[in-house]
Amino acid sequence: MQTGGQLKMCLWCFSFAVTSLEPIIGQYGEMLKIPCNSGAIKAEDIAITKWKYVSHTGDQFATDEYKVRVSMDKNSSLLISAAKLSDQRTFTCMVVTGGDVFEYPVNVLIHSESELAEKLSKCPHANPPANITWFKNNKPLEADGKGISIKVSVVVESSTGLSTTTSTLEYSAMKEDTGARFKCRADGLPLESSSMNFTITYSTENIMLEVSPQKELKEGDNLTLKCVADGNPAPTSFNFHLKGELVTVENTDTYTIANVSRDATGEYKCSLTDDTSMEATRNITVTYLDINLSPSGNIVKRAGEALNLSLQIDSSGKAEVSWTKNNAKLGKQPNFTKLGYSDSGRYEWTVTVGHITRTASFDLTVEGPAVVKSLFKNRSNDGQHKVLTCEAEGSPKPAVSWSINGTVLGESPFVNGKITHKIKVVPSANLTVHCTVTNSLGNDSRAINVSSLIEEVRMDKQDQSEDSDQTRLVVGVIVGLLIATLVIGLAYWVYSKKSK
Ligand SMILES: *[C@@H]1O[C@H](CO)[C@@H](O)[C@H](O)[C@H]1NC(C)=O
Ligand SMILES: *[C@@H]1O[C@H](CO)[C@@H](O)[C@H](O)[C@H]1NC(C)=O
Ligand SMILES: *[C@@H]1O[C@H](CO)[C@@H](O)[C@H](O)[C@H]1NC(C)=O
Ligand SMILES: *[C@@H]1O[C@H](CO)[C@@H](O)[C@H](O)[C@H]1NC(C)=O
Ligand SMILES: *[C@@H]1O[C@H](CO)[C@@H](O)[C@H](O)[C@H]1NC(C)=O
Ligand SMILES: *[C@@H]1O[C@H](CO)[C@@H](O)[C@H](O)[C@H]1NC(C)=O
Ligand SMILES: *[C@@H]1O[C@H](CO)[C@@H](O)[C@H](O)[C@H]1NC(C)=O
Ligand SMILES: *[C@@H]1O[C@H](CO)[C@@H](O)[C@H](O)[C@H]1NC(C)=O
Ligand SMILES: *[C@@H]1O[C@H](CO)[C@@H](O)[C@H](O)[C@H]1NC(C)=O
Ligand SMILES: *[C@@H]1O[C@H](CO)[C@@H](O)[C@H](O)[C@H]1NC(C)=O
Ligand SMILES: *[C@@H]1O[C@H](CO)[C@@H](O)[C@H](O)[C@H]1NC(C)=O
Ligand SMILES: *[C@@H]1O[C@H](CO)[C@@H](O)[C@H](O)[C@H]1NC(C)=O
Repeated sequence: MQTGGQLKMCLWCFSFAVTSLEPIIGQYGEMLKIPCNSGAIKAEDIAITKWKYVSHTGDQFATDEYKVRVSMDKNSSLLISAAKLSDQRTFTCMVVTGGDVFEYPVNVLIHSESELAEKLSKCPHANPPANITWFKNNKPLEADGKGISIKVSVVVESSTGLSTTTSTLEYSAMKEDTGARFKCRADGLPLESSSMNFTITYSTENIMLEVSPQKELKEGDNLTLKCVADGNPAPTSFNFHLKGELVTVENTDTYTIANVSRDATGEYKCSLTDDTSMEATRNITVTYLDINLSPSGNIVKRAGEALNLSLQIDSSGKAEVSWTKNNAKLGKQPNFTKLGYSDSGRYEWTVTVGHITRTASFDLTVEGPAVVKSLFKNRSNDGQHKVLTCEAEGSPKPAVSWSINGTVLGESPFVNGKITHKIKVVPSANLTVHCTVTNSLGNDSRAINVSSLIEEVRMDKQDQSEDSDQTRLVVGVIVGLLIATLVIGLAYWVYSKKSK
């Protein structure tokens, strides 16, 4: 059905359940009893029971044929007195219950010599004439003189007085009516048709070009173009315009370009093959990033030299750069105008554009000949030995050697081209001690005078003996004074004895 076309529906608005029963056999001239539904429906559920039959002569039916001979019992059975051969026909019992109409046709055979062959047919009837209401998606429809018109016809069968009501809905279908469900219902009667749904066709009104990946298309990605168009039936073939190149696809709405390159940036379109005016356009950008860091790999430089870095970025957008040295972040790009040993390490350069990240790196080794930076001596607190310290610089790691035999106290870790070496010595004579440092690039030596520790100790002892002489002197003076005092006292005692 085209949009705006007429959707014509015609329903009787009844559903019939037809059950065939065994024929009833009656005897000519006797009472004929025709049961209605053999108890399939309970008497209390039945709203209306009607009996009908098909005349032998079609339309020309004698209305009074059964007028005086028929009656109905409590069980809805049809009773016909004085059965005739002409009673041999199909009687149909119509039962209206709470939800439906059931028909039970019963074939009646009257035993006699002549058998009448009859063509039997059935026909739906409803009485009284019903009001029929139409519904779209369970909402009632009313004739509006424009898109919706409802025509009702009632046919009354003269022989039975039963009527057949036919309601015809003419509905101008719109695109939005796709999948809508229509039904009709007889007012006042528990009768309802089952829902029907119609296919409504309409031509494409909207077309869109969808691009995947949606967020960012990177160089190397697979680009999928999807042409999304409405219409019923949906279009099955599309034209894709790839930067001017035309590709037509059948039975699919997608087109994929694998491993796109930066050249794929440009304008893309899709359109209907049968209506190229229905077209959608998208500008597609492929992001890309190339970096070049020079030098790279392992770089060996002499201390004091300069290292020029050459950094090149070719990208589709603004790049963010960062540096690390030995995996630790650097605040800014390293500047190697005068290389020191501490500049040695692994440098990594990271550049990001959109979702693309590239890194480049180099390993820098700064080397130089071994040099003695300082050499000094310290006397231990107890004066028992001396400690000599030699500080060296250079890379590769300098080897330190001494011109004196001593006990090595230790060597510091080799950091940033520096190393410190200590020895403990007990010199027995005044000496000149050399510290010599050597690596593959050169050597250096420095000297220091170390005085004899034994000499110093002897001097200390001399100092101590002088002290004891003084003590003896003091003791001697005191003893002398005591003797003198004693002599004077004795002389005074002898003198006073003599004078007495
Ligand atoms: C109605 O049917 C019931 C059960 O089938 C039966 O017992 C009863 O006699 C019937 N009544 C008449 C009037 O035929
Ligand atoms: C049918 O509809 C008409 C008008 O809407 C109303 O007058 C009439 O009573 C209805 N008949 C039944 C059986 O509902
Ligand atoms: C309408 O019918 C079609 C096909 O018969 C079916 O796919 C669709 O689900 C139906 N729609 C509704 C609302 O029932
Ligand atoms: C692109 O598609 C190919 C095959 O269709 C697949 O092997 C590849 O992994 C896809 N590439 C990406 C980046 O998804
Ligand atoms: C993608 O294309 C580039 C050149 O454009 C090529 O070097 C690369 O091998 C391709 N990758 C795949 C997976 O085909
Ligand atoms: C695509 O880009 C072109 C030129 O760069 C521009 O004229 C056009 O309007 C763009 N189209 C869309 C859909 O953005
Ligand atoms: C390093 O760069 C400076 C100035 O940019 C230049 O004068 C010098 O020659 C460069 N040295 C090397 C080794 O490229
Ligand atoms: C590196 O440092 C020198 C001076 O120390 C300066 O003149 C030069 O501009 C710096 N270069 C960079 C790239 O920062
Ligand atoms: C060792 O001597 C140097 C100077 O010769 C001095 O600077 C340093 O503090 C001394 N160290 C100790 C532990 O006495
Ligand atoms: C160091 O000791 C060794 C023996 O252990 C000896 O041959 C050598 O002459 C000594 N060197 C010095 C400088 O005292
Ligand atoms: C050692 O040197 C000291 C001065 O540093 C000096 O007084 C002493 O005489 C010297 N001893 C010898 C044995 O040369
Ligand atoms: C130290 O360097 C000089 C030249 O600078 C060289 O003649 C000498 O052999 C070197 N000595 C050692 C132990 O490497």
